[in-house]
Amino acid sequence: MSDSDDDVPTLSAHTLAALQEFYNETKTDPALVTTPSDQFAVGALEEDWRMSQFWYSDETAAQLAEEVIREAGEGGRIACVSAPSVYQKLKQGVVDGSDRVSAVVLEYDRRFATYGNDFIFYDYNEPLSLAASVAPQSFDIVLADPPYLSEECLSKVAQTIKYLSKGKVLLCTGAIMEKIAKDLLDVKMCSFLPKHNRQLSNEFRCFVNYPSRLLSC
Ligand SMILES: C[S@@+](CC[C@H](N)C(=O)[O-])C[C@H]1O[C@@H](n2cnc3c(N)ncnc32)[C@H](O)[C@@H]1O
Repeated sequence: MSDSDDDVPTLSAHTLAALQEFYNETKTDPALVTTPSDQFAVGALEEDWRMSQFWYSDETAAQLAEEVIREAGEGGRIACVSAPSVYQKLKQGVVDGSDRVSAVVLEYDRRFATYGNDFIFYDYNEPLSLAASVAPQSFDIVLADPPYLSEECLSKVAQTIKYLSKGKVLLCTGAIMEKIAKDLLDVKMCSFLPKHNRQLSNEFRCFVNYPSRLLSC
């Protein structure tokens, strides 16, 4: 054995056997194996308050996914702007019709880049700085949930929405934004009450610019 071989750390037979057993267990234990749909679970990523992240409840994400599927129509294209939970719910394969639409998520949080080509980096401060592949008016419906309750933020997000949408807009934001949202996007407040995993201090609502079931449910 050379000098350099002497330097290689070695494990005892007992430790190696224990390691092998560990690897075998992690390979076969169903509790440790992730299913393909887990990556799309709503709340799979922890909320980060520094990015104003408040995830919808699973039920709300499903209701909003049903709504955008219905409104996008067969083969429709859906843009989820700062609303990753709805994108996730669309991709989970648990909502009827989700296999008949396509969806993308426009997000500032790069953790969502694990969604590959469906992820489009988006910073509302630069509302029209989108990837070249994002064609204008190319989405049948745009759902957006801006990170902040301010006129400045909503005005910029509205620019993005208008760029992306063929017409239909579903905006989710604080009830206090009603007047500004109406002025910017001509949307009406729905009676549908979206819920979050955590209690928000502000009343939160959905707004639409088309005749939606959410207006009266
Ligand atoms: C109020 S949360 C809406 C999330 C939604 N309730 C959901 O469950 O999918 C705001 C979203 O804006 C994103 N965001 C934070 N900063 C942003 C920025 N500068 N530009 C665009 N989006 C941003 C956050 O990552 C978060 O997903």
